Amino acid sequence: MKNVLFVASECTPFIKTGGLADVIGSLPQALIKHEKMEVRVILPLYDEIPSKWRDQMTYQTSFHVPLGWRNQEASLYTLEHNNVFYYFISNDYYFTRKGVYGYYDDGERFVFFSRAVMEALQHLDFTPEILHAHDWQAGMAVALAKIIQPIPNLQTVFTIHNIKYQGLMPHDMFDEFFSLPREHFAGFEWNGMLNCMKSGLFHADKITTVSPTYAEEIKDPYYSEGLHPILLERSDDVLGVLNGIDTDDYNPLKDSYIEVNYRHSRIKKKENKVLLQEKLGLAIDPEKPLFIMITRLVEQKGLHLLQCILEELLHQEDIQIAILGTGDQEFEGYLSHIAYHYPDKFALRLMFDEGLARQMYASADFFLMPSQFEPCGLAQLISLQYKTVPIVRETGGLKDTITPFNKETSKGNGFSFSNYNAHDLLNVIRYALSVYYDNDNWNQLSKNINKSQFSWKESAHEYVSVYRALSEVKV
Ligand code: GLC
Repeated sequence: MKNVLFVASECTPFIKTGGLADVIGSLPQALIKHEKMEVRVILPLYDEIPSKWRDQMTYQTSFHVPLGWRNQEASLYTLEHNNVFYYFISNDYYFTRKGVYGYYDDGERFVFFSRAVMEALQHLDFTPEILHAHDWQAGMAVALAKIIQPIPNLQTVFTIHNIKYQGLMPHDMFDEFFSLPREHFAGFEWNGMLNCMKSGLFHADKITTVSPTYAEEIKDPYYSEGLHPILLERSDDVLGVLNGIDTDDYNPLKDSYIEVNYRHSRIKKKENKVLLQEKLGLAIDPEKPLFIMITRLVEQKGLHLLQCILEELLHQEDIQIAILGTGDQEFEGYLSHIAYHYPDKFALRLMFDEGLARQMYASADFFLMPSQFEPCGLAQLISLQYKTVPIVRETGGLKDTITPFNKETSKGNGFSFSNYNAHDLLNVIRYALSVYYDNDNWNQLSKNINKSQFSWKESAHEYVSVYRALSEVKV
């Protein structure tokens, strides 16, 4: 039996702010299908987790968590869902707050969580051989597992989902939080700050990230957010494993959020399109090419590129665009202004709504994802499931999953452009429209997309190999 404990800050269906939650919510299910794999997940018990889930949890025990001079209390709860065991760590001071992130003391909150995981390991009815930590919020768990050694020979994997967010704090917090000898300081510090992500990268036995291209990109200063020297030093231990999605959940044939279920049918997609146009107040026309974005409205997602060309596009092309998401004021304000001026052609919903998201995937012809960087990206994979054609920038996981359609060779499952340049985006959108209006090419592209699927199957295999290799080293 190979026992793995995932340490993470979010997980569907309990709590989600981004793609990390989808991965933590679906990868364990794929891993336990492998023989002799037992994977459990430990998470903070946020107040924000709906009572539907909280009511099903079982109280396990309480214990003290030393945090420098502080001595905090934590309680451990468990819940089984879809054959996976989840552990939740509660603490009123750190996690009984609105939302998930965005507090001045986020660093301290997740240092506490990581330290609490070390204590929890003494109380679990489960002895992991591998601790697999995800993103900066769990970085300190890797460092502490190596230094405190709550379980002898515990091997560690650290996965980067987004290197931009690192969990930075003043360096003197090292003494505030940990009663550790000074010799350890260097493993926690980077550029004069205490850095949770660096602590994970420095101490992990194996480092993974969520696509092969991103694994290379983060060795380059343009993408590394300052951490390339560490990744270069550890490059033999860095591996890119592409994310998958739960293809049972994202299935247009069974999806209960959408009105007209379908497998490949373009006609049924158009029926969904008309319903969506009605719902969003767009002009009703099943033939009109519909572009969508479902995203956090932040710079990473290429919103600046869109901003440069959006009016030109809406003026010159007979298309519709619908955007769903929330984010930075700058983009929310700008897009609201456009929605006001182009009510028939442009719809905006500043919120997150899973049902509407699914209806948009089901209705659209194109999904825009012109990201500045994209560690993996899940929306392009969901789009393929719903037979919506992704238009992406060639970066990170977008490059690894979307091959540009080529009229000559008939190959490709989407459209892409290389430079982070607004008019390159505009040109590729125009090229995509030319394919849309050409029946033979459009049918060919649709066929290619029907064959293009990214489930967890192969990636789960790769993680299993990583875990196996680590336990062999141990013997
Ligand atoms: C982060 C990345 C995204 C990735 C997700 C899951 O949200 O920005 O590209 O798909 O994590 O790994």
